[in-house]
Amino acid sequence: MKNFLTINRKIDSFDKVINVEGDKSISIRWVLMSSLSKKKSTAFNLLKSEDVMSAINCIKILGSKVRFSKNKCEIIGNGLHFNNKKKIVLNAGNSGTLGRLILGLLINSKNKIKLIGDKSLSKRDFSRVAAPLKKFGAKFDGYKNLPLEMIGIDNPKPIKYFEKKGSAQCKTTVMLAALKSNGLTTIKAKKSRDHTELMFKHLKIPIQVKNEGKNFDKIRINSVKKINPLNYKIPGDISSCSFFIVLTLLSKNSQLLIKNINTNPTRIGMIKILRMMGGSIKFLNKRSYKGEKISDILVKSSKKLKGIDCPVKYNSSAIDEFLVIFLVAAKSKGISYFKNLSELNQKESPRLIWASKILNMMGIKNVMTKSSIKIFGKPNLNLKRKISIKNFSKDHRIFMMSVVAALTFGGRWKINDLSSIKTSFPKFLEILKRIEH
Ligand code: S3P
Repeated sequence: MKNFLTINRKIDSFDKVINVEGDKSISIRWVLMSSLSKKKSTAFNLLKSEDVMSAINCIKILGSKVRFSKNKCEIIGNGLHFNNKKKIVLNAGNSGTLGRLILGLLINSKNKIKLIGDKSLSKRDFSRVAAPLKKFGAKFDGYKNLPLEMIGIDNPKPIKYFEKKGSAQCKTTVMLAALKSNGLTTIKAKKSRDHTELMFKHLKIPIQVKNEGKNFDKIRINSVKKINPLNYKIPGDISSCSFFIVLTLLSKNSQLLIKNINTNPTRIGMIKILRMMGGSIKFLNKRSYKGEKISDILVKSSKKLKGIDCPVKYNSSAIDEFLVIFLVAAKSKGISYFKNLSELNQKESPRLIWASKILNMMGIKNVMTKSSIKIFGKPNLNLKRKISIKNFSKDHRIFMMSVVAALTFGGRWKINDLSSIKTSFPKFLEILKRIEH
């Protein structure tokens, strides 16, 4: 099968109802938490993407039993203690979330764990989690990048940890290690997605979360003796939705209803930003599930989009959606400014750099620095040119952003590495077809 997509036309107007696949952050957390319980945990609508399957493969190597049937996944874990007799090699594939979180989970592994990943993951920064795990007592060989080796410790010491980046991965890694440490771990963390906190609360793990000023949380976690099983109906992923939300906003006379989406306040920065820019996005049928917020999302084409100076308070809660937000800025009247975004260059590819390159290819003036981008919108841009997107470290979100750009700005696009969608959103093209026909 060819591993690229060619698009030579804009999308026609549409009025559709869709579902997207399960939330990736929750799916990976469910797999890891279930591996800590000796009883059976069941999930419905678990995302079956490569990142989540890498998590499943890792916990199988660590001794969990996993069974899939239709839309259901069952895990029987092996409890809180790992008695691996020999060195174990774990492959986190493309997933930063898995690679980092699993090190926290394995803080008490007495034998060597070797962590490997694909080319993109091997370049990413692991010192951000190795540093706090060292404080718990882990030893590392290779610290910054993969492959690395970690030897855990029998009785991890509880720590005090300050998470300044707004990284949920760093916060969660420490939270998982805290479960196994001997006493009270305290974390001061810049606010970021809080799925782990909500799962801990639901599982009755002794955790306390308090606001510390506007931008930080103080989290206290006590160690536990056992973890209860976790049954979960996983809601749709708002990050997957983001491509279709922007597709709708930038299309003519169109409307899309996306059902059963996780609209946790720590994940909806994109919605707030797009509303500020004039996007028509409504949450309907709002409900709660195990502490998470869930809604159906109704989006309508928006004719009058305007540039904004994007408030940095939304950076963490929109971190995976900036690529498509930049497309809305490209179509908006006026200049948009996005700042304090150096973390975007720490993702599956250096996304700020890539966004600027793609906007340049589209003829959208932009000024980029190490941590910011100014985008000069062109509301009437109608592309005719040839655009070829390749060598982007197979970053799934670059692929999907390019598809949305092609279908809304016109031009003749060739977009490489179609298989990249398998990491987070394998059904992306299938759902897109449903919207188009
Ligand atoms: C994630 C956290 C974010 C996000 C990633 C998923 C998570 O990373 O970009 O796609 O599930 O915790 P950081 O925590 O490094 O910002």
